Amino acid sequence: MSAFVHIPVLVKETVEALAVQPGGRYIDCTLGGGGHAAAILGHSSPGGQLLGIDADPEAVKIAKARLQAYRDSTLLINENFVNLQAICIKYDFYPVHGILFDLGLSSIQLDSNRGFSFQHDAPLDMRLSPSQEITAADIVNTSSEAELAHIIETYGEEAYSHQIAHRIVQERPIETTLQLVRAIEQAVGGGRGRIHPATKTFQALRIAVNHELDHLEAALKQAINLLGFEGRLVVISYNSLEDRIVKQLMQQESKDCICPPRTPTCICRHTACLRLINKKVITPSPVEVQLNPRSRSAKLRAAERIITQGDPVNVTEKLGFLVGIETNGWRRPAMLKRLRMAFSLP
Ligand SMILES: C[S@@+](CC[C@H](N)C(=O)[O-])C[C@H]1O[C@@H](n2cnc3c(N)ncnc32)[C@H](O)[C@@H]1O
Repeated sequence: MSAFVHIPVLVKETVEALAVQPGGRYIDCTLGGGGHAAAILGHSSPGGQLLGIDADPEAVKIAKARLQAYRDSTLLINENFVNLQAICIKYDFYPVHGILFDLGLSSIQLDSNRGFSFQHDAPLDMRLSPSQEITAADIVNTSSEAELAHIIETYGEEAYSHQIAHRIVQERPIETTLQLVRAIEQAVGGGRGRIHPATKTFQALRIAVNHELDHLEAALKQAINLLGFEGRLVVISYNSLEDRIVKQLMQQESKDCICPPRTPTCICRHTACLRLINKKVITPSPVEVQLNPRSRSAKLRAAERIITQGDPVNVTEKLGFLVGIETNGWRRPAMLKRLRMAFSLP
């Protein structure tokens, strides 16, 4: 188990945005070191329940140890959140009062030997889970120069993507992080601006290896359907690509019509299923950034599930899960002990 710790970001703001209440049921889709999960469980006690998910088996182990005191109120699962809906059906854990995504990596992963950081040498892996087949080294060593440039430009928003891709291809095979850093520095020079020249390429490779943006978009859509009436969705993102997906989806789902501008009459028949909690994004205070520099790029967005009361037929069709209109979408909570026995969980 790792000796490193992860300092959770925007904890007070997250608990407030989730409107955590005693007896509530919550999902932490990105358990990490269990910091946010511990705060949610603390505020939802007595009677709160938490389903925690992480793609990284190491993270689940660490969170399990940290959340031992809440053993009877938690179900901690090593899974990818892209399967959120299937997980909740399997464990009969829906609808819920709140769902949290705290995206990206934990400090434990960044400081590990798994190739996420350009600051120390390690094999070029970057997989969240060892069950994934493709590593960053596979992408770097087998993609064409054009494919590499596309990945680096699209997922890293790197202006020098073509120069970097060209140099990588010349330097192959590249097996470690520092070999890759050297190739990038040779392509663009050692010191540009405030950020390290390898930052954007490392971000791009990590996103590509783990299909991060596709998985996020798919999981957010599933999350909306798993929320009960007035349930809260809270997302903390750490780069502009993630934040754009969150912002666009929340904005779209909080509108009653999404027809293109200047369409004379509505043809989309879209109805809002969210209400934005914070119109302006929430970011860490200067004090938090000083105490935890890794929090500096965090952006928190939150929305609340609404049901269009005047339109029950539409709601039934649209929400899938929230068919219990007469109960405002709430069902009897699943019993964690019973579930644990049924699935032989430790
Ligand atoms: C920033 S950390 C979360 C830290 C956590 N909130 C805490 O307080 O300790 C992000 C976590 O999300 C996990 N993660 C990222 N993408 C995931 C995915 N698609 N499915 C499941 N877990 C994911 C990572 O493995 C990592 O442990």
